[in-house]
Amino acid sequence: MGEFLNLPISKIIYLEDLNGWEQRTLEILRGDYFPERALYRGIKKDGSIIYLVCYSKRIIYEGKPAVQTVIIDITKEKKQEDVIRHLQRVESIGTFTMGMAHDFNNILQVIIGSAQMINLKVQRGELKKEDLEKYLDNIISISNRGSELIKRLKIFARKEVPSAEVFEFDSLVSTVVEILKTLFPKFIEIEVKLNSKDVKVYGSKTEIQQALLNIAVNARDAIVEKREKKLLDGDGKITIETCVKSISLEEANIFKVNPGRYVCVSVTDNGVGMDEETKAKIFEPFFTTKKPDIGTGLGMSTVFGIVSSHGGFITVDSKLGEGTTVSFYLPVFESKEVLSEAEAKEEKSKSAVMVISTDANLRRVMKSFAESAGFEVLFSDDKVVAVKVLSENLDKVSLIFIDSRTPRLSLKDTIAQLRILKPDVKIFLLYSTPETAEIEGITVIENPDEDNRIIDIIKGANIEKKEIS
Ligand SMILES: Nc1ncnc2c1ncn2[C@@H]1O[C@H](COP(=O)(O)OP(=O)(O)OP(=O)(O)O)[C@@H](O)[C@H]1O
Ligand SMILES: [Mg+2]
Repeated sequence: MGEFLNLPISKIIYLEDLNGWEQRTLEILRGDYFPERALYRGIKKDGSIIYLVCYSKRIIYEGKPAVQTVIIDITKEKKQEDVIRHLQRVESIGTFTMGMAHDFNNILQVIIGSAQMINLKVQRGELKKEDLEKYLDNIISISNRGSELIKRLKIFARKEVPSAEVFEFDSLVSTVVEILKTLFPKFIEIEVKLNSKDVKVYGSKTEIQQALLNIAVNARDAIVEKREKKLLDGDGKITIETCVKSISLEEANIFKVNPGRYVCVSVTDNGVGMDEETKAKIFEPFFTTKKPDIGTGLGMSTVFGIVSSHGGFITVDSKLGEGTTVSFYLPVFESKEVLSEAEAKEEKSKSAVMVISTDANLRRVMKSFAESAGFEVLFSDDKVVAVKVLSENLDKVSLIFIDSRTPRLSLKDTIAQLRILKPDVKIFLLYSTPETAEIEGITVIENPDEDNRIIDIIKGANIEKKEIS
């Protein structure tokens, strides 16, 4: 680490992580956030990337609040971890292949066995009609199981969504709950809390029903197992709840999805729960802790395939002996997206957001926000370019975000010039600085990279009426 002595932090932390670093440091400084540790990528003189763990705390230094950070290079450990993860992946492919081979082998055994029996009885001249029917029935039903298995495998491997439509999420959940009530044993109470009225999702209804069903069946199995082990205290209980949640850019990065509004359904059971090892393998195809006639181990891997092909993500919380909550999140279908493809194209060419900033990270964040709302982004890094870009795109640009920290940019002048060109353009300032305090009537957004209101601002067709405090 000698190489880093006396270097400013902006030269140590990798550019893409710098924004997160600054954000976190500000939060610690304000006393809003007390993290134990955070992982960042760093960059060495030779351009190679290293991994740094940072432990920070708020201190008073020379009478002023400051942040003290200890940085540890964990590149070596991280590389080992990557190797382990790779091995686990290889292992999971192994489990997958073995499981498939095993299941199909069983199916083929039944088919071959039945055909051989028919053959034998024909040769001996003793094949009765009812025997033939029985063997053919066996062959048909086991082949159906094989094709069902292939269907599930295809869902697991697939990326795109078949026969998608727009539907109300809560009503889909109610339909599944009705099915569950007829299927599940009476000692399991099902409680439903629907909190996403009128929220719509775009996707395959049958697949999403299937995903919810698979999770609920696991919840049932976990309760039944607990009861069989005589560990269930009172009745079994499954709670199915829906809600809407905004996913910030930081969370979106973790789950590898786009930021924005998501609808969530969570299924909580008071069943056997899982230990860490089981939880880690829950999405592996053919991983099961159940008896072969109960579980194939494809339930959760199917859920994974369905949810990720819909642009969503899944979370699992579990405590051994106490129970489990499995939730999945799907992007909310915003009404702007109802436009046909041609309309959408036309609409897109009509709508753009201008961002004035020199900060590469902020530009990236704003681009992702604007694009998730279906808008084009036009960038400029100073007043002259901004005025030029706006004058060339007067019809398109209805919204301008100005990074108040942009060097050598007079906010007042810039705003005035832009307003002369387009008096009704909406302007927002990003980050507060001493200069923003002097500007009246323009909203300042303090933490743009975490603020999902920006997506709403961009999406809101009637921006004037949107109150943003
Ligand atoms: N709600 C839950 N409570 C406890 N364990 C669970 C729960 N959900 C899943 N698991 C664990 O994860 C494993 C994998 O689940 P998955 O649904 O993929 O397969 P399965 O239920 O065993 O078989 P299948 O769903 O194909 O019939 C289960 O065998 C179980 O050990
Ligand atoms: Mg299952």
